[in-house]
Amino acid sequence: MAKTTVHDKLPLPPANRNFFIADIKKYFMRVLISEAQIRDRVRELGTQLSREYAGRPLTILGVLTGSVVLLADLIRATTVPLRVALISASSYGGTRTSPGALSVNSSLVPDLKGRDVVILDDIFDTGHTLVGMYEAVKGFEPNSVKSAVLLWKCDRTTVELTPDFYGFKIPDEFVVGYGLDYNDEFRHLPYIGIPDQDDLIAAGGHGTRTS
Ligand code: IMP
Ligand code: MG
Repeated sequence: MAKTTVHDKLPLPPANRNFFIADIKKYFMRVLISEAQIRDRVRELGTQLSREYAGRPLTILGVLTGSVVLLADLIRATTVPLRVALISASSYGGTRTSPGALSVNSSLVPDLKGRDVVILDDIFDTGHTLVGMYEAVKGFEPNSVKSAVLLWKCDRTTVELTPDFYGFKIPDEFVVGYGLDYNDEFRHLPYIGIPDQDDLIAAGGHGTRTS
């Protein structure tokens, strides 16, 4: 995994896009999964979903905000008719190692009765968010519910549930990009990167090393 300096001259040529941050600040970012790797894998996930849900009333339910980049790419990699819906979840009062209470807002969710729902999130970490999503979605009386995530931090998962579809298993590292944030920053990066602790503090937080 190469450690890369992000240049402050914009824009960089496309060949260097893996090291691109649209910000005048300089960040160090180790690229864990490149833009090309994500593109290939999302295409495979689209094919997998298209096979499984052919002829079925599929709704992909994106969990705000982290899933939006994946959602946009995945629905275009899927060749069966589908509907898109959004739900929001935030965790309050938790730390990096223990999740806080999950607050779910399903006011945007359309009628899911009798539909085959795939809950889509950016990452499956402890798994508590997706467990909460399953609970919330059950109330809508769907025909079936499965889950899909881009990343699965399998060493940290503490629930019985596992994602039905996932892009990549990753080690226990805090990652950003492709929808994943730190303090709402870095979601726009086209790759999955491991930020430098000092840069996280500069981005307005306390880093991720303690709790
Ligand atoms: P879980 O409930 O522990 O599975 O956590 C899921 C949520 O935590 C995700 O939807 C993310 O918002 C957040 N999260 C977990 N790990 C990371 C990470 O490495 N980077 C950014 N967000 C993360
Ligand atoms: Mg999230």
